[in-house]
Amino acid sequence: MSNSFKGLKYALTLGSDPQNFLGKWWIPAVLKKLPKAKRRKWALRVLSLSPHYFFGDDPGEKTLDENLEVRYQDGLRSRKKICGLVLSDVLKETDVVLDYGCGPGFLAVNAAARVKQLYACDISVGALACAEIINPAPNLTYVRADENGMAAIPDASIDVAYSFAVIQHLTDETFEHVLANCGRKVRPGGKLVLHIQLSDEIWKSEDEWRSDTSVKGKLKFRYGLHCFGRTAEHHRELVEKYGFTDIRIEPLAAEVAAELNGTKAEAILFATRA
Ligand SMILES: C[S@@+](CC[C@H](N)C(=O)[O-])C[C@H]1O[C@@H](n2cnc3c(N)ncnc32)[C@H](O)[C@@H]1O
Repeated sequence: MSNSFKGLKYALTLGSDPQNFLGKWWIPAVLKKLPKAKRRKWALRVLSLSPHYFFGDDPGEKTLDENLEVRYQDGLRSRKKICGLVLSDVLKETDVVLDYGCGPGFLAVNAAARVKQLYACDISVGALACAEIINPAPNLTYVRADENGMAAIPDASIDVAYSFAVIQHLTDETFEHVLANCGRKVRPGGKLVLHIQLSDEIWKSEDEWRSDTSVKGKLKFRYGLHCFGRTAEHHRELVEKYGFTDIRIEPLAAEVAAELNGTKAEAILFATRA
């Protein structure tokens, strides 16, 4: 696909804040107006406009919609595997759970099947609108990760908050905002489970991204789907600052990493709300 077409897709769908793919107001408005029978097909088409959601552009022998259906099934399969391998030991049937940065809801819908109630939040109104259509469940509530959306979740009501494929896309400032929300919503004794990216030779740090002052570098930093590596120590400091303790960082099993970025520096951080 040409860069100018990619640029046009971003401009049409990117929300006003950085990293808010499919954040434009028109996406939920248009999906809502469609007849119910057409919503799923269009939700998958909308998701294919974003670089975030694992829907490629290469239909091969298949039609676009057939290809998107395959990608949908693969999203469910992938997140079911992560749920089974990483979250099954943490989640209990009686738990109220928060999925932070749920995207199209593949992990949320799998995790919801294991718990009493699940809130799934995201900054992208478009991703949330698609998630509501393609990955609904009776005990699953999608909310915006802003002040109004988070107000729907009572403080100290969450037994487990988890986040996958999100933290490494955030600047420290945004990561701290996420941690502040988790610190407020998770009850004392509740758990935090974060998929993180440790520093390695592949991922640039936030400082390295910021020091690239070329136009391309600046545009990529603001609008691109970039990743930041952080040291284990830096993750610990930030998580501790927001009231979590007993912090443990474990390497990600290769089987799970294969469903994510597939790097050796991926890890899972477990912590308990003090
Ligand atoms: C790569 S997707 C991962 C989706 C999902 N967690 C998964 O693993 O399938 C990253 C998601 O994080 C969301 N996100 C980015 N910044 C966020 C923030 N500050 N608060 C909440 N969600 C955020 C994006 O909108 C996007 O949907």
